[in-house]
Order: sequence, then structure tokens, then C-alpha cells
Amino acid sequence: MRVTARRNLTPHIVEFTLSPVEETALPSYGPGAHVTVETPSGAMRRYSLVAPGDSPSQYVIAVKREPDSRGGSQSMHDEAVEGTELEVEPPENDFPMGEAPKYLLIAGGIGVTPIYAMAQKLAGDGKEFDIIYCTRSAEETAYLDEMKEAFGDRLVVHHDAGDPDEVYDFWDHFEEPKNMHVYCCGPKVLMEEIEAISGHWPEGRVNFEDFKPVEVIRADDEAFDVELAKSNKTVTVPADRSILEAIRDSGVKTVSSCESGTCGTCKTRLIKGDVDHRDMVLMDEERDDYIMICVSRARSGSLILDI
Ligand code: FES
Repeated sequence: MRVTARRNLTPHIVEFTLSPVEETALPSYGPGAHVTVETPSGAMRRYSLVAPGDSPSQYVIAVKREPDSRGGSQSMHDEAVEGTELEVEPPENDFPMGEAPKYLLIAGGIGVTPIYAMAQKLAGDGKEFDIIYCTRSAEETAYLDEMKEAFGDRLVVHHDAGDPDEVYDFWDHFEEPKNMHVYCCGPKVLMEEIEAISGHWPEGRVNFEDFKPVEVIRADDEAFDVELAKSNKTVTVPADRSILEAIRDSGVKTVSSCESGTCGTCKTRLIKGDVDHRDMVLMDEERDDYIMICVSRARSGSLILDI
């Protein structure tokens, strides 16, 4: 697809409109869906689709520049200018909406993207819903004016200025389990809070979407060498990069998808080495012979991989 428009929503969030390079019908999708985009840096990233998706002619995503970005969001902001062509996979939906008499939508920060799509759909269908949208400040609130205009007093916006004492108090909404569906997308701390206070709700009523990858790099990580047997190359993996990124930086192509140790795409045969396995994919009996290079590292010494 091609970037046909860019719009700065906040100082750190840019909206991208993606149009098919060749005239073709795009797959429809339900609110809550996301696309996986190969960013100009080569990193694959999942982004929620912002608008409801009946027979769409374009896909719209919004990307926040993450300060600790490992290349994905930074590359979208800096390199995906208008006219840039990007590989985009068809929409998938891990956060679909069910049928309910009433809905509560909760967004934190950039987590507003699927929530906004849901709200537009519910408003279009004449459903009853409320939105609670938490951010640090008005300046950092994407889609603020248009959501206010579209949803009026169904939208509650709360700014906490990054102060833990000022966070929104959700307890009144969750004290009594209600016959409604809740959809929540935002930072881990927000979703953990909602999960904790909704533990007594019937299963399936409170739903979460979390794109945050696991912590791939840890503060005490160190650099190490990886020998690529097939490519006949040795690559140094810096303390703040994954093996996958270091290999890619060196010009060797590798496949990946989640880049958080959960999908299995980057499974690589390990020829030799002492590995600190950090993935959620490999079975115990595979750990001597394989490594997920998007998250795992050398525990000591260097590694030899069948790449
Ligand atoms: S890319 Fe998904 S597990 Fe490595």
C-alpha cells in the first residue's frame, strides 16, 4: 500500500492513510482489527485500524513515536513520508466486539485507535455506549476534538499529567458486574488495573487489547557475538539490540512477525552456544537446538546460528 496522507494528531502521534498501490478492493474488517505493516526499517508492527471497515477504500492507522522504539515507530515517523510504499498484511481481529445491550469503551493514550473505531461503529448502529479516554494532557490526546464532536457527553476525557495520584478512578464502573461489554486498550498499567478490579465480572464481559511487546531488552543485557554459519559472517549484537535486529542491520534478511517471542516466526536452528531463552514459544525439548532470535540472547560467550 502507499502512504497517501499523513496528519499530525499530537506532537508524538501521526495518522497515516494507506491506499492500495493498484486499484483493488480492500478486505473489510470489524472494529478492533489491526494490520501488520512492514515499516521502512524492515521491522513488522501491528497497528489498529482507526475507522470502521465496511468496504474500505483506504486503511487508516495512527502511530505513536515511542521514546524507546526499537525502530518500528521511529521509522514510520521519519521515513514513511507521503508516497512511500509499505507491505501491509490483510486485517486480522484479535479484539472483536460481541453483541451486548450496552458497552463501556476504555482507552489509554494511543490505545484509542481500536476504541475510536468501535465507538464509530456503535454510534452508527445506534447502540448505547460510553467512552473513558485517559491521557496525560489535552495536547497529547489524539482525535480529541473529533471524538468530542462525534460522541458528545458519551465521552469522558481524563488527563492525569503522568501523576499516579491523578489517575482515573474506575471503581464505580466495576463495583457491580453489569450486563454490558467492556473493551479496553491502553498501557499495561491501565489494563492491569481494569483486570484487577473486574475479576468478579463474568468471563467474556471485559476484554483487552495489548500490543506492547514483552520487554525484549533488559537493563543488564550485554553485547555478544553471533556467528552466522550459512552466511559466513560474525555479527556483534549490541546490548540494546536483539539478535534479529543486529542480523538485519548487518544486511542479512530474516523473517519475523511479532518480535516479542510469541508467534514462532523467527525460530532459528542453534548450532552452538549457551542461550538465555526469553520466548514463549519453544518447548523444553527444543531449547537445545533452537532459538527465537527476536527476544533471546547469549547467556555467556557467543552463539553459532544456522543462518
Ligand atoms: S518474531 Fe515472533 S517469535 Fe520471534
